[in-house]
Amino acid sequence: MSGKLGGKVALVTGGRGGIGRAICERFIAEGATVFAADLSDTGSMGAASGAAAAFVQLDVTSEDQVKAAMGTVEAAAGKLDVLVNAAGIEIEKTIEHTTLEEWNRCFAVNVTGMFLTSKHALPLMRKAVSGGGTASIINFGSYDGFIADPGLAAYCASKGAVHALTRAMACDHGPEGIRVNAICPGYIDTPMLQCFFAGAGSGGGGRTIEALRDAVRNVHPIRNYGTPTDVANLVNWLASDEARYASGQLWVLDGGLSAQVQQMRL
Ligand SMILES: NC(=O)c1ccc[n+]([C@@H]2O[C@H](COP(=O)([O-])OP(=O)(O)OC[C@H]3O[C@@H](n4cnc5c(N)ncnc54)[C@H](O)[C@@H]3O)[C@@H](O)[C@H]2O)c1
Repeated sequence: MSGKLGGKVALVTGGRGGIGRAICERFIAEGATVFAADLSDTGSMGAASGAAAAFVQLDVTSEDQVKAAMGTVEAAAGKLDVLVNAAGIEIEKTIEHTTLEEWNRCFAVNVTGMFLTSKHALPLMRKAVSGGGTASIINFGSYDGFIADPGLAAYCASKGAVHALTRAMACDHGPEGIRVNAICPGYIDTPMLQCFFAGAGSGGGGRTIEALRDAVRNVHPIRNYGTPTDVANLVNWLASDEARYASGQLWVLDGGLSAQVQQMRL
């Protein structure tokens, strides 16, 4: 029972990805029982995980698989205190070049998946709060849900939907002790960011990837990208009882990027 999350049970979708993996490791260090749900045991990292969280195979777009994953958690732990919806994909295109299939896939993973996991987690979360206290759902939005990176149209739209869904869920389920928040990261150094730099949607204008990385790094007031650990720190607080009064909010974590007027960097 030691640590900020002692006695708590958590499920992290995208739990073998760059950010998800850091969250799982932090939760374990804080004493939680953790299930890492992802398409595969290696997730986006392309190597054996080595992570201690129990792996649950899950495609968040499949309602049957979501129900089965919640069944696994119920059988092993009997309740769910924390759900982190970190599974996500990016389509690096303008709307003109995005196919309907790509658009639908982006929304299926980033929005519908969140709807399905949250919906089927609720019965288990009610068990977690039956003795008092709060349970916590933490969704992954993005600063792209507020302001747009070029060439990411479907992704930006999907993250805007995540922000609206977060507020709606917080209003609906707050009265029963379930808090719902979204984390809205800026540039976090994970495989998703590497793909962005390598991709046509990055607006690289013929620069090398290194030159592009440096240019983006230097436009931040903090003069750096975030790390998965930076994100896990905030997720950890939102998951804990210290955050018992925090709900319905969109927590931007972007090194100050969205606070500045870009013209002032001339
Ligand atoms: N990295 C960033 O700069 C950044 C910025 C803003 C928001 N985010 C958001 O943070 C979250 C995590 O991103 P990341 O950088 O760790 O990306 P990532 O690509 O490293 O990890 C995403 C994980 O989601 C998993 N996934 C994809 N489709 C899935 C599906 N259908 N079912 C289950 N799992 C699936 C992948 O296998 C992968 O392990 C995403 O929602 C992303 O949109 C990331």
